[in-house]
Amino acid sequence: MNNSDNFQMSYTDTCGPLVTLLIHGFPLSSQMWTPQCDQLYSLSRILAPDLPGHGLSDPLPGPYTMKILAERCKDLLDSLKITEPIILGGLSMGGYVALEFYRRYPERVAGLILTATRANSDTAEGKKGRDANIQRVTQQGTEPLVDDMLPRLFAPENYENDEELVAYVHEMMLMASPEGVISALQGMRDRPDYRPTLEDIDVPTLVIHGAEDKLISVAEAEAMAAAIPNAQFHVIPNAGHLPNLEQAELFNELLADFFMIFTDEFDEEDEFEDEE
Ligand code: MLT
Repeated sequence: MNNSDNFQMSYTDTCGPLVTLLIHGFPLSSQMWTPQCDQLYSLSRILAPDLPGHGLSDPLPGPYTMKILAERCKDLLDSLKITEPIILGGLSMGGYVALEFYRRYPERVAGLILTATRANSDTAEGKKGRDANIQRVTQQGTEPLVDDMLPRLFAPENYENDEELVAYVHEMMLMASPEGVISALQGMRDRPDYRPTLEDIDVPTLVIHGAEDKLISVAEAEAMAAAIPNAQFHVIPNAGHLPNLEQAELFNELLADFFMIFTDEFDEEDEFEDEE
């Protein structure tokens, strides 16, 4: 996709009925949604962008505030002429972007999928950690940060036993450019507290968390789900921060069940139209 400022956004599009837009975590890419694109495409058209400076998308001048990232996702929908409300999902940083998107464009959202994410903003200590990482990437590039993060993304058992998955994620993280990583760290550091937004979410919401997530606690995700009026909360066993990859089958079952809410609605609309 090419915007007026010539930003080229790379994205995956499985085509099909009922649009779902899935936003990746930091510093990953649309490739993290491959098991969902491969297995769920018959239930929903899955769009998965690479955020600026990640995967195959160009970097943009930073910082990448959640507002800027949400706007780029909306631009992608606009460029594809998708005007009907979509199912919007995000993992971790992608979840922050999804919450920002919902806050700005609630009329564009029919359902939310919030995975391995939280609504609260960074603590003072968290902000200091972001600054230290920004300095490290500025001085040494992305590799030391990526190498430190990698084992923390998985449940220990998966990190030890699933070499192929670990290598896949490692390679994906190394695709992010230093500018992209720094700008995303700045944007996450300065993101607002989304907790006041939660009570206003009036669409069906699926909250999924890995039981062994080391980056975001189950308690944070549970508190977020409890504050959303129409949310289901599921904890996936034997999964860390990447439940959609570590336990793809279980994760996909949850999404398939969630999609039913919307396909039933579409079917009812069709019947209604048929009667007219
Ligand atoms: C992510 O996985 O997107 C990030 O680790 C989230 C964060 O650092 O807050």
